[in-house]
Amino acid sequence: ALANWRSNVEQVGWPVALVTSAVLGLTVVLVRTLAKRARDEARLRLSDLVLANVSNGVTIADANAPDFPLLYVNPAFERITGYDAGQAIGRNARFLHCDDAAQEGLDIIRVALAEGIPATVKLRNIRADGVPFWNQVSLTPVRNKVGVITHWVGVQRDITKEEEARAALAAAYEDVAHYSADLERFSFVLAHHLQEPARQMRLQAQVLLQRLEEGGTPADREPSERIVEASARLIGLLRDVQTYLAVERLPAEGLPGSPNQALAVAVEWYKERIPGGAVRVDKDDLPKVGMTQKRLDDLFEILVENAVQFRHPERPLHLKVTAEPDGKFWRFRFADNGIGIDSCFFERIFIPLERLQPRTEHTGTGIGLAVARRIVEASHGRIWVESDGVRGSAFLFTLPKAA
Ligand SMILES: Cc1cc2nc3c(=O)[nH]c(=O)nc-3n(C[C@H](O)[C@H](O)[C@H](O)COP(=O)(O)O)c2cc1C
Repeated sequence: ALANWRSNVEQVGWPVALVTSAVLGLTVVLVRTLAKRARDEARLRLSDLVLANVSNGVTIADANAPDFPLLYVNPAFERITGYDAGQAIGRNARFLHCDDAAQEGLDIIRVALAEGIPATVKLRNIRADGVPFWNQVSLTPVRNKVGVITHWVGVQRDITKEEEARAALAAAYEDVAHYSADLERFSFVLAHHLQEPARQMRLQAQVLLQRLEEGGTPADREPSERIVEASARLIGLLRDVQTYLAVERLPAEGLPGSPNQALAVAVEWYKERIPGGAVRVDKDDLPKVGMTQKRLDDLFEILVENAVQFRHPERPLHLKVTAEPDGKFWRFRFADNGIGIDSCFFERIFIPLERLQPRTEHTGTGIGLAVARRIVEASHGRIWVESDGVRGSAFLFTLPKAA
């Protein structure tokens, strides 16, 4: 009986084992499938949660159906546009711009959809309640395993506030530019007209002085001398204000200007005015620049005048001028061995009428370096100063290379 039972078992053993392993295998697959489904469902729930809570609109369009109908819109899309999913799904999203189809952004979208490339554009759209808004739309194609586009995902962001702020800022800039141009014109005319009375004042005070020469005491002469001095300062100041304002009016770029010539003329002029006339100049052969000679002359005159004014009382003035290439520009270095500038004043010296020294110590109106900055910046260059505050200063500036 035992042998019989064993043979029966052996006969059914193989099929039972087969069935068992098949069931086991299926169970594993089922468990895995269920686990995967659970994972997929969890993932889907998470995606739903994300899509429901993001602040940007999200839309999905069918790339294979005619005219890209929307398959899905998220709650943020409904909030931004005022259209609910029922009103949007099944339609092409163009209903959002009504008949305002001639927009640059839409041209870009048309190309992107035709070529299957992503795009981000700014569109004028209209909400369901008729209120217009600026919509930043980003489109991205979704491809299947073989690379065919099956869907387009769109992300919508309401950028109305940013656009309004940008427009307000642009309008404010325009206003400021307009008023500042007006003010400049007014100041220029004012400076011009004030020169005549200032000259008259100086002239009449000089006449008065001459008369007092014959009979008056030094005390009688003093007020007239003060008027002569003050009117001379006023004339200088008005002239410098005019020069400062005129920079914008003159052509910035022109025939190549020669810094060699500008430097030589300026040094010659000041040599005669420095007591003792001693000024040593070491310089490279300076390259020509894309700037009119007149402007270049003004620039070097200001720099030389500044060096003369702030020369060291015990050191004969020594200038060293070099230039090296800097992209489309030449970078010049105009160094002196004067009294130097404290680093606190590196910026302030370029502000018009900022006086760093009491007037009695140094002459000049305090506008020269401001004019220099205007001249350089009108040619899209930059000017700045370096100094250890003891051994002198170096003015560095960039000027465009001659064409
Ligand atoms: C997924 C997706 C989302 C879109 N979202 C907008 C939208 O928010 N606003 C809009 O004006 N156009 C949107 N468009 C663009 C229009 O549907 C359409 O492509 C566009 O008007 C250019 O095509 P047309 O010249 O046939 O109108 C979207 C397109 C896609 C594919």
